[in-house]
Amino acid sequence: MEPRTRAALGAVAALLLLAGCTSTADGGGVDIGGVEGTPGAAGLRDPYFPKLGNGGYDVTHYALDLAYDPRSGRLDGTAMITARAAQDLSAFNLDLAGLAVDSAVVDGDPASVNRAGTELTLRPRADIGKGEVFRTTIEYSGVPRTITDADGSKEGWLRTRDGAVALGEPAGSMAWFPGNHHPSDKATYDVTLTVPQGTQAVSNGVRTSERTANGRTTSVWHSAEPMASYLATVAVGQYRTKVSATPSGLPVLTAADPSVAAKSDPLLARIPELLAWQEENFGPYPFSATGAIVERTGDAGYALETQTRPFFPLDSLTVEILVHELAHQWYGNSVTPADWKDMWLNEGFAVYAEWLYAEDFENVPAQVNFEAAFATDANWDFPPADPPSAENLFDPPVYQRGAMVLHKIRQQVGDDTFYEILAGWAAKHRHGNASTADFTAYAEEVAGEDLGEVWDVWLYGDGKPKRP
Ligand code: ARG
Ligand code: ZN
Repeated sequence: MEPRTRAALGAVAALLLLAGCTSTADGGGVDIGGVEGTPGAAGLRDPYFPKLGNGGYDVTHYALDLAYDPRSGRLDGTAMITARAAQDLSAFNLDLAGLAVDSAVVDGDPASVNRAGTELTLRPRADIGKGEVFRTTIEYSGVPRTITDADGSKEGWLRTRDGAVALGEPAGSMAWFPGNHHPSDKATYDVTLTVPQGTQAVSNGVRTSERTANGRTTSVWHSAEPMASYLATVAVGQYRTKVSATPSGLPVLTAADPSVAAKSDPLLARIPELLAWQEENFGPYPFSATGAIVERTGDAGYALETQTRPFFPLDSLTVEILVHELAHQWYGNSVTPADWKDMWLNEGFAVYAEWLYAEDFENVPAQVNFEAAFATDANWDFPPADPPSAENLFDPPVYQRGAMVLHKIRQQVGDDTFYEILAGWAAKHRHGNASTADFTAYAEEVAGEDLGEVWDVWLYGDGKPKRP
């Protein structure tokens, strides 16, 4: 039986209950359902973004079908969201910024939709039982917006000269699709992109098909491994696209704006070599595709580690930043922070990867970079594990002092154990989420010793220690 109560039957169920009949979700009693849900939470209480994400369910898969017209800037989307209820649900929220909701359907029945700011509240016709898998289909449209972050940088949907690019860290993905936009709810994705013929579209993962009909080109992109929504991307415009494979057979797809392609080609050609080096240090590459997207300088203010296909404005495409964004595929993308307070687990590791690159390729010991970071005042504004506010998530202490924490562990435990920790951490939480407390416990477990001083002074301590 279908363990769901139709709203129309709810009154009948109530009457039967009053009359002394039992009614249970799993068919123990009267066969008309009886799930009495409560609304899922409107946020996940992230310390910096309390409304980000939603409680009561876990998304397992997003199927996004998007048509974009670069000229008008209009997006027409259908999001099919497959999720499992984590509680009996009478209603649940999705995050969406801007865009009009044209229809909402849950398991084939229309659902009512309420909007307050970036919170969409959906009330399905029938309550959903805990553990049930349900599918929500939202049709939506409009001109997606660019979001200004607490630190002043731009994310969400960014128009470029010939199209647009979607960047989502920390909260921008709600500008182009409805979802559970907190890093703790990871899911697989299929993204279908339809653009005018002659324009290209790129997303994460593997391109599984591309066809042109009636003046429009549609491509389909599959992400088989879980992805946090902030790492989803689409790029629409003119690109010089290159498809190849690494020596181990990993598909590589790079897309560069034609005006920057000649400049970016030599570095992009190093992706297979850099990944091979990172695999030696960090363990097996966690995804089934790689590549990059390169836009013109100014199309975004920063590079981003969008999953399998990091994004770079040309002026950010240096070998250090390429190494940094590729390292995020292990640290951030595969092992994802449990909440945004744990950002140093992303950025400290990615910066340390740059220091390792300098050591292995340029004969600059990590100790040299460590000492330079130690001497820089801006790195001492706050402890990496405790940024004072959302505005500070991308500040130097999260990056440089985060890397200093790793260097202090290395000094204390020695190289062999240190590399064991780096790769072991990526293996232990592969495709999952982890917190700072998980990391400190894990590092001590592998080291077989107490690292309390490293945590107290370097990870959590206020101010600059006397000696490096
Ligand atoms: N995670 C990106 C990187 O380290 C930086 C993203 C900056 N985003 C922002 N909203 N400030 O490469
Ligand atoms: Zn980074």
